[in-house]
Amino acid sequence: MDYKKFIEEQIADVKQTVGKSKAINALSGGVDSSVVTVLGHRALGDQLKTVFVDSALMREGEPQRVVEIFAKLGITVELVDARKEFLSALSGLTDPEEKRQAVTDTFYSKVFGRLVKESNAKFLLHGTILTDIEETVDGIKRQHNILSQLGIDPQQAYGYSVLEPLKTLRKDDVREAAKLLGLPAEISQRIPFPGPALATRIVGEVTPERLETVRAATAIVEEELGESGAFQYMAVLLSDRATGIRDNKREFGQIIVVRCVESVDARTATITPLNWDKLNRICQRITRIKGVNRCLYDLTPKPPATIEYI
Ligand code: XMP
Repeated sequence: MDYKKFIEEQIADVKQTVGKSKAINALSGGVDSSVVTVLGHRALGDQLKTVFVDSALMREGEPQRVVEIFAKLGITVELVDARKEFLSALSGLTDPEEKRQAVTDTFYSKVFGRLVKESNAKFLLHGTILTDIEETVDGIKRQHNILSQLGIDPQQAYGYSVLEPLKTLRKDDVREAAKLLGLPAEISQRIPFPGPALATRIVGEVTPERLETVRAATAIVEEELGESGAFQYMAVLLSDRATGIRDNKREFGQIIVVRCVESVDARTATITPLNWDKLNRICQRITRIKGVNRCLYDLTPKPPATIEYI
């Protein structure tokens, strides 16, 4: 595939379609939305407003880091603080599907939906890729109808259009396009990270304290396994507790699971046979996190398990 030509064509296409109107897009820092952001700004400059929604569910330093990476590329990203809205939507929920739904509703119907309406944008740029469309058709993923997810009735809000410049690409192609567009390896080679973010890695209720715990464990796992070349690696906070000893006292502490998997397309996955010393080092570091006194390594492939825990 001639990626350079593809990028040039998409830039010309977006430019022509949007004309003198305004456009908006949400950047998550994942490779798809990052490529759309750079491509969109090449086509539209200041006519495109890019927002990063801080949901409180992101990894350590992630919102600021994403803004900084794009600033280096000359692209201004508006950081929208929606932490309270997400935390209050998740408060009290323990059912996995209810938690996912709360994150989706808060993002689309409340926060991004409001930003789209306030921005007067007529076009939304969205990083849908071919695999998303195929999985929607196959019934694997929920329908990707972004306008209705944003709470926008296309009839009422006549004039809104969604542009999906990456809809013919697969992940590998998007990574190539990312490199050509000058995005750093930390974006172009980024491991998958789910839309509902750390909420998929907390079993039970998502609270600021529990987020802090899983965030600290995630930072350790990502630092230790960054060079592993594995498909995906993560830390998960369980809702169970276990007895341990800290400072010579019994402690009924928290349990973190470490998961590291090999996969091609995430439909199936096998476990990475990690080095024993590496696992021990991760365990030592994780059990230094306040309140965590056990660290487990999950040996379950997909199927029967899924990659995430909710
Ligand atoms: P599961 O847990 O279903 O995950 O085996 C398969 C892959 O998809 C990612 N994942 C998501 N990605 N939104 C996303 O964008 C989601 O809601 C979501 N849930 C899971 C997961 O990280 C893994 O790579």
